[in-house]
Amino acid sequence: MRSLLCVPASKPSMLKKALGTRVDQIIIDLEDSVIAADKAEARENIREFLWLLETDKKISIRVNERASTEAKADRQLIRAMRGSKMSSVILPKIHTIDDLRYWNRYVPRGIDFEVQIESALGLVNTASIAAYPRVTSLAFGPADFMASTGMPSSAPGTPWKEAQTALEYPFSEIVIAAHAHGKLAYDGPYFEIANHVGLSQAASTARALGGDGKWAIHPDQIALINEVFTPSAQEIATAQGIIDAFNKSSGAVNYNGLMIDEASKKVAERLLERVTQIRK
Ligand code: GLV
Ligand code: MG
Repeated sequence: MRSLLCVPASKPSMLKKALGTRVDQIIIDLEDSVIAADKAEARENIREFLWLLETDKKISIRVNERASTEAKADRQLIRAMRGSKMSSVILPKIHTIDDLRYWNRYVPRGIDFEVQIESALGLVNTASIAAYPRVTSLAFGPADFMASTGMPSSAPGTPWKEAQTALEYPFSEIVIAAHAHGKLAYDGPYFEIANHVGLSQAASTARALGGDGKWAIHPDQIALINEVFTPSAQEIATAQGIIDAFNKSSGAVNYNGLMIDEASKKVAERLLERVTQIRK
């Protein structure tokens, strides 16, 4: 997935709108975008529309964290939604594999775990979390992560202007852990919804670090995220050129002024695999 749009389950009109966008995955949220007073109604909305939903997009539900008083009702909902369009649960605030064992007891088989790493404790345990078999992806949660680590923010989930790179290290660690175990890695949301230059920079950095996609919190962010995470025609042509040149050579070879070798070929192949996945 390149883009994942998080939509509050308390706002069915936003969900309808999301279905008409070009987003790859819709996360129907019961957690932080829904206030406590609306959570029960949000679950009722999901019970009503999820069975009727017709879409090719991947559909997921974000539950409340294990420690929350809402978790029990969320568990019941997830069980009731087995067999619906929901193919995964988004598990926020995963700190240790003990949290995954908890959800594993309650979430029916066949529903994937997509976890959010958004605390200091979660980050130090990322490798073991990524290794857990039911986990298919790891996503960074910058707002909660900043709160957990005491990083001051200029806007939610946004580091000080003088320290724009502050979130690169934790995201990079998440990407490395996820890819070490063959899982996907997603960057979290960009909160300044009118700032498309900032979004573009954040998405490009996430892709440069090896991220597979990025969360969106507003439909206007989707096109830009899809664009950044879709290899361009130029990238594809270069990748194909590198593979062809290397295959014809007997070792390292000069390709348009670039010294390429077996590793360059692997990078190029990985890019083409990504293109195939996106076109599927
Ligand atoms: C997302 O869940 C975040 O905390 O940024
Ligand atoms: Mg969060």
